Amino acid sequence: MKKLFVVAIPLLLIGAVTIGACVKSMGASQGQLLGLAQSRNLSPEDAAHAIKTFVPPGGRDEYLLFASGGHSGQIHVIGVPSMRLLKTIAVFTPEPWQGYGYGADWSEQALAGGDGPKEQLRWGDAHHPALSETAGKYDGRWLYINDRAHGRIGMVDLSDFRAKQILQVPNLQTSHGGIFATPDTQYVHISSKVPALKAFNASKGQSVTLDDHLNRYADIYRGYSTFVKVDPKTGRMLLKESFQIELPPYTQDLADAGKGVSDGWAFINSYNVEMATGGVQQGKPPVEVGASQLDFDYLHIINWKKAAEVVAAGKFTELNGIRVISLETAVAEGLLYLAPEPRSPHGVDIAPKGDYITVSGKLDPHTTVYGFDLILKAIEAKTFEGKDRYGIPILKFDAVVAGKVELGAGPLHTQYDNQGNAYTSLYLESAVAKWTLGAPYHPADQAFKLVDKVSIHYNIGHLATTQGDTMDPQGKYLIAMNKWSIDRHTNVGPLHPQNFQLIDISGPKMELLADMPIGFGEPHYAQLVKAETIKAHAVYQPGESPATNAKSPDAIASEKDARIVRRPGVVEVWMNVIRSHFTPDIVTAKVGDKVIFHLTNAEQTEDATHGFAVPTKNVMVSLDPGETTTVSFVADRAGSYSFYCTEFCSALHLEMQGWLIVEK
Ligand code: CUA
Repeated sequence: MKKLFVVAIPLLLIGAVTIGACVKSMGASQGQLLGLAQSRNLSPEDAAHAIKTFVPPGGRDEYLLFASGGHSGQIHVIGVPSMRLLKTIAVFTPEPWQGYGYGADWSEQALAGGDGPKEQLRWGDAHHPALSETAGKYDGRWLYINDRAHGRIGMVDLSDFRAKQILQVPNLQTSHGGIFATPDTQYVHISSKVPALKAFNASKGQSVTLDDHLNRYADIYRGYSTFVKVDPKTGRMLLKESFQIELPPYTQDLADAGKGVSDGWAFINSYNVEMATGGVQQGKPPVEVGASQLDFDYLHIINWKKAAEVVAAGKFTELNGIRVISLETAVAEGLLYLAPEPRSPHGVDIAPKGDYITVSGKLDPHTTVYGFDLILKAIEAKTFEGKDRYGIPILKFDAVVAGKVELGAGPLHTQYDNQGNAYTSLYLESAVAKWTLGAPYHPADQAFKLVDKVSIHYNIGHLATTQGDTMDPQGKYLIAMNKWSIDRHTNVGPLHPQNFQLIDISGPKMELLADMPIGFGEPHYAQLVKAETIKAHAVYQPGESPATNAKSPDAIASEKDARIVRRPGVVEVWMNVIRSHFTPDIVTAKVGDKVIFHLTNAEQTEDATHGFAVPTKNVMVSLDPGETTTVSFVADRAGSYSFYCTEFCSALHLEMQGWLIVEK
């Protein structure tokens, strides 16, 4: 080992050494680096991995990972290969640093849009991010993420990395991974997970009994596939132009968009086609048993372009504010088909050209690959093995399967590279399997073969390869999103961090490079995009409102324009904010007045962010350079309140304060 170390290190370090202009001589540096590595007990592999992942101070990462934050309700942005956390984007959950959910108008509008009819929802289970695409490639404009708990979608504007809209999708109660952007982001799709009562209406409540649930489940519950229209200019979701397709009450799970040859189609896997209801005390099997009775569940195959035409032709009913194509119409119009898939699948993932569809049944060691050409042929020739109880044609399994690959225990989710290889997470085996696709990626004798496997730590759920769910996969890195870390990190109490692992997939053998403890959420899925694709503003245009991305009518140019206007019951303040003072710095109001602050940060210097916090009022606004934001509250108690800037913005940051005096 020692000898290998001495030989290997100089070879590994040649690249790094030649880069450094300050290095005196090769020999001396090699000696120093060798000594350093040895003093830290690093093996040659460790040292190589450190070099492969190290981003020097001031340097940039090549990729950005957008990872869901699970029930933290947020999204985390991580640099790759350094695995450094760059930002957290608050979406479903208030977050004070970003001034999200503590009074700022843009954030209150976003959160209120996702509220329930009777309740403020201030958390969500952020599950699957979907970056916007143009021609099947990430375009860096917007990010959509679904809320597993409430069937909502959050929209993040990547021009400023802020959540701008949360949409409560009608007729859905929950959603798992059924989200994707269509290849040109005309629509963002979301499907239900556990079916909800037909025409689920959260605001009115619905009449149901235990007997209904146990004995009429198949009739009273339904799932939905939803195509939410996206405004091509703003990325906002437009419910009025959206539509849904009614689905059977199977539990629809993950979904993916067709692309390339399969553009216009959508694929959703499902489980519990048995429609197990639970109810152990009522003499029924638990869902985990009841949902595993049959050998096959159903892959849902949807022609969404045809569905859009059917809606345009008026063949829909309006249900809770959205146009819905009924199951009967979907079958009659030939836009919904099923194909058997090995039971309890997790993951339906479309290959880069749109030609293969990979489904992994987590109770089957194989992964099943469907050919899109075979699916089209079977639909055309009506190669059906029957219909389900709702009349949906079921394509013959053998007619649509292009290949099966034995991978190992618990295959879940698949991503692709640019060499025609697929990477599938193996939950039970705690591994990632690499295998080959068929033609045109690989000749028949090399197709659908397991070619490599790497152990991960531990219990991998989803994985993300560099742009590996687009038409432009890069084949560079893979991130394994591991649910358990067990013994990998310093003990910080019984709630362990989860564990992301960075894997180099650029060579013939996968190589584990680094661990990243995830101590801020339970991430589910992530997308890994070239950093240069994202072109966020460094500062806002002077007076820009994050609510509209346009100049705010309440923006002021300088402190000369600052003013206070009083009318009965209202005090309205146009406040200028700049290093290191607020203008005006004293505001008076009467008890019961509504106090409205229009705050303009007059800075145009990068990073010159100010905060605006008012004690006891639950107000905390982050004012980024150039931003104009409005916050209002009721001055309900007499007293003197010291508002202040929360960002260490200058040497006189502590002096950046003022008073709200509320008189009786
Ligand atoms: Cu402005 Cu501190």
